[in-house]
Amino acid sequence: MIRSVITGSGSALPEQCVTNAEMAKRVDTTDEWIVERTGIRQRYIAAEGETTSSLATEAARKALEDAGVDASEIGLIILATATPDHTFPATATQVQANLGCRGGVAFDVQAVCSGFLYALGTADSLLRTGMAKKALVIGAETFSRILDWEDRTTCVLFGDGAGAVVLETRDVADDGPGILATKLHADGEHKDLLYVDGGPSTTGEVGKLRMKGREVFRHAVVNLADVLKEVLADAGVESSDVDWVVPHQANARILDATARKLGLSTDKIVVTVDQHANTSAASVPLAFDVARKDGRIKQGDLVMFEAMGGGFTWGASLARI
Ligand code: ACO
Repeated sequence: MIRSVITGSGSALPEQCVTNAEMAKRVDTTDEWIVERTGIRQRYIAAEGETTSSLATEAARKALEDAGVDASEIGLIILATATPDHTFPATATQVQANLGCRGGVAFDVQAVCSGFLYALGTADSLLRTGMAKKALVIGAETFSRILDWEDRTTCVLFGDGAGAVVLETRDVADDGPGILATKLHADGEHKDLLYVDGGPSTTGEVGKLRMKGREVFRHAVVNLADVLKEVLADAGVESSDVDWVVPHQANARILDATARKLGLSTDKIVVTVDQHANTSAASVPLAFDVARKDGRIKQGDLVMFEAMGGGFTWGASLARI
C-alpha cells in the first residue's frame, strides 16, 4: 500500500537562550512559579535578523540532509506558522527560494499550535493523491514577536524555533512504515480564550497574544484525550502499542494530565517544554527531532503526534517510523 513515510527530520533554534531567572528581571515572576506551573526552565528568543523563514530554512536543510534527499526533489512544502515573515507571500515560498527548489507547491498553514498536525495531515493527503512524491513539512515560529512583554501571564510561556520532516511516498507492507491515521478538528466557538488582538483586516497591526490560560488548559486535556482515542481506534491499535508520544509542548501539566487520562506511562512521552517552552507549530517537529537524534525514537517505533491550539484547533497523527 502507498503510505507517506517520514524519512528525515531537522530542527533549528535561535542563538539566544533566555532562562527563567532572566525573565524574572523583565516581569514580576520567579523561576519557581514558572517551573511549578508549566515545567518551563528556559526558551530561545530570535534576535533581529532571525526570522520564521530563516529558522524554517535551517530546519528544512537539516531534514533534507538527514533523509539524503536533494532540495530539487521536493515537490511540496507546507509550512505551519502563526508568525509568518510577511502577511503575504507565504513564508513557505521564501523557504522554497532559500532552498533553491523552484516550481513545486508551497504554502503556509495557519492552525497555531496544531499547525504541524494540520500540515502533516494535508501533506499526507496530497502525497497519496500523487500531487508530489517528496514533501517538506515544517513548523516554524517567532512567537516572541507577538508577545506582550509586559504580561507575565503569557510572555513566560513561549519561545521561538523550527522543526521539519521529509515525507516520501513509499509502497510498503501493512506492518511497514508511514502515517497510519490522522484526525483533525476545530471549534471556532472558543476564539476568545486564545487569540491575537490584531490582524491585517481588523486593526491593520500585527497585534499581541491574549490568553485565558486556565480555560485553555481545561479544554486541552479533554480535546487531546478524545482525539488520541479516535486515532488509536482508526489505526486499530491499543495505547499500550504506542512506543512514543510526541505532544505539543505547551505545559508539562497538560502532558501529564493527558497521559493519565489515556493510561499512558509518562516515560513514553517526549518532553522538551523545559528546554524550549511553547514554540507553537514548531514544538512537535522540534521535539520529534530531538528524540530521534538522541536515539530514543528508532526505526519501527509507533509514534503518536498530538497538538491543540488557538481556534480551538486540535489533532493527532499516528506513524510508524
Ligand atoms: N509569575 C508569577 N505569578 C503569575 C504569573 C507569572 N508568570 N502568571 C500568573 N501569575 C499569577 C496570577 O496573577 C494569579 O495570581 P492571583 O491568584 O493573585 O490572581 C496566579 O498566578 C494564578 O494564576 P492562574 O492563571 O490561575 O494560574 P494557573 O495555575 O492556571 O497557571 C498557566 C497558568 C500556566 C497559563 C496555565 O493555566 C496553563 O498552562 N494553561 C494552558 C495554556 C497554554 O499552555 N496555552 C498555550 C497555547 S494553547 C496550547 O498550546 C494548548
